[in-house]
Amino acid sequence: MILHRLQHLSAAIFARLRRALARAGAWIEARPKLAPWLYAESEKSRETRYREFNGWYFANFYEQEKMLADQPRMDFYHAAIRRHIQPGDRVIDLGTGTGILAAFAARRGAAKVYAIDHSEILRHARTLAAHNRIENVEFVASHSKDFVVDERVDVIVHEQMGDCLFDESMVANVSDLRDRLLKPGGLILPSRFELFCEPIKVTDRRVVPHLWELNVHGIDYSCLERNRPQEPEYYHLRSSDQSLVEHFLGEPEPILSVDLHTVIETEMPLELHLTRTVVHAGRLDGFAVFFRARVDEDLCLSSGPLDRGRAPHWGFRILRTDRDYFELGEILDFTLRVERWTDPESWRWSYGRRSAIVPGSPVPATVG
Ligand SMILES: C[S@@+](CC[C@H](N)C(=O)[O-])C[C@H]1O[C@@H](n2cnc3c(N)ncnc32)[C@H](O)[C@@H]1O
Repeated sequence: MILHRLQHLSAAIFARLRRALARAGAWIEARPKLAPWLYAESEKSRETRYREFNGWYFANFYEQEKMLADQPRMDFYHAAIRRHIQPGDRVIDLGTGTGILAAFAARRGAAKVYAIDHSEILRHARTLAAHNRIENVEFVASHSKDFVVDERVDVIVHEQMGDCLFDESMVANVSDLRDRLLKPGGLILPSRFELFCEPIKVTDRRVVPHLWELNVHGIDYSCLERNRPQEPEYYHLRSSDQSLVEHFLGEPEPILSVDLHTVIETEMPLELHLTRTVVHAGRLDGFAVFFRARVDEDLCLSSGPLDRGRAPHWGFRILRTDRDYFELGEILDFTLRVERWTDPESWRWSYGRRSAIVPGSPVPATVG
């Protein structure tokens, strides 16, 4: 009895200790400036490693020119800024890159634009602004979380969307500036986002089955199923090629909607479900992850593989499944479990099927 009580007490103490350590870890993780004091190079926090990668990735012309040549993307931002930034506004351009959104805002009549970037691309942004006689822009070589200004701003403009929407830390970066430096009632441009995870069929001539699903001229690979790769990355297919996707099996609907004016990163759901009635019968190859950003009813930016006028430089991700077939009217239930929204490799997915006529509970079929 006494032993049992002691064990209970010890377990409770250790549970508290673990919770306190987890809280301390999260606090340190959110303050990369402390990292060199606390960690050896090899132990850098995830956020520090990501900051370094991101600054390096966007430093070269190659990434910037792909984004700038993406006409639907640039038309969307140009229209959004012309419609929603008012002459006299004070603006933060979070992640200015070559300074293009800051230049649009300045030409629209912004009184002051703080154009922030932590990458070395900023020196080219300065050259470009001088060459184009862009005034009222102050370039700030800094990570946004280290940026301070004495008067709050009217607008935050940003382009922080990754292929999987959240994988460039958009929510953390924008909400940090929102909470510290945006006026009450101020505007975030764009702010409304929809994430999609739609069941798809890949175009027949493009489909690549898993190795163990193959039979190549009578050579049967099924024996290799026991060696299925365990790395989640294997089950992700990245593409920006629209011809890869033949159709969605159901009618697309967002699996998640966020508004950056109100979202709190730590309160985002980590488990999501969707149900699709199959309207295109046939093979299921996976679930396509893409996003839409909406500024007005008639002003939308999409990375959807089947959307006309999609912004072509964004890729979309296919969360692969084993080959499966669905009949017209069957119901497909999908679950996405997320450890970190910023890290698609931490996402896991499963799906099940139900007949439309005899409802029953979904049977898990594939886990990524
Ligand atoms: C997707 S690019 C967009 C560039 C530019 N705004 C445009 O629309 O062409 C994102 C830029 O944000 C910068 N960046 C990302 N996160 C940042 C942060 N938290 N603070 C400052 N710069 C950041 C990157 O270095 C990169 O230049």
